[in-house]
Amino acid sequence: MVPIGVLVSGRGSNLESILDAVDGKYITKGRVSVVVSNKPSVGALEIARKHDVPTVVLDDKGLPKMDPEYDRKTMATLEAHGVTPKDGLIALAGYFRILSPQFVDHYPNRIMNVHPALLPAFPGLEAQKRALEHGVKVSGATVHFVAKEVDAGPIILQAHVPVRDDDTVETLSERILRQEHRLYPEAIRLFTEDQLKIEGRRVVLKT
Ligand code: GRF
Repeated sequence: MVPIGVLVSGRGSNLESILDAVDGKYITKGRVSVVVSNKPSVGALEIARKHDVPTVVLDDKGLPKMDPEYDRKTMATLEAHGVTPKDGLIALAGYFRILSPQFVDHYPNRIMNVHPALLPAFPGLEAQKRALEHGVKVSGATVHFVAKEVDAGPIILQAHVPVRDDDTVETLSERILRQEHRLYPEAIRLFTEDQLKIEGRRVVLKT
């Protein structure tokens, strides 16, 4: 069983899709061992509690967006819940901090993120707004392994959605989010079943 640590900062809809996939036995070889939030009183914490998953708040108020000292506390929390570099998985699910290189190096190819655009297009914040403003006709969702550069690690799964003429940031975000909720559990299932192989920048299925 792969112990999964989910790092969150907000609403928690991706967290919920992962927990539902575990409860519904879509993911059978992993379980969420802990949810760590850098913000108190966010929706994601409520969702975790509803699913009887342990939660930890490490409030980062006043700290820089990237902070190796803060990350050391996060890593200690993860390890205390069995999410180790040897057999754990860390899923960033709406986590609005940047991981330090020390964190990324500690868990090589064991940290995943979901991003609301077709990477490498529109990395960083407000991806849906920037895609709309740029005038692209297609956008989507990406689940990728986390590398030291933001939103740049090997891509595991992607799904595209159309951008419609009458879209707003809200309608486009909603359409993309539905794909995120489908892709993230699928990527985690593949990882926990040991089906993923990384070849350079490419993530392929083991044959
Ligand atoms: C999602 O759109 C995700 O792609 C981005 O932040 C949002 C988080 O939403 N990284 P939620 O907290 O999972 O509902």
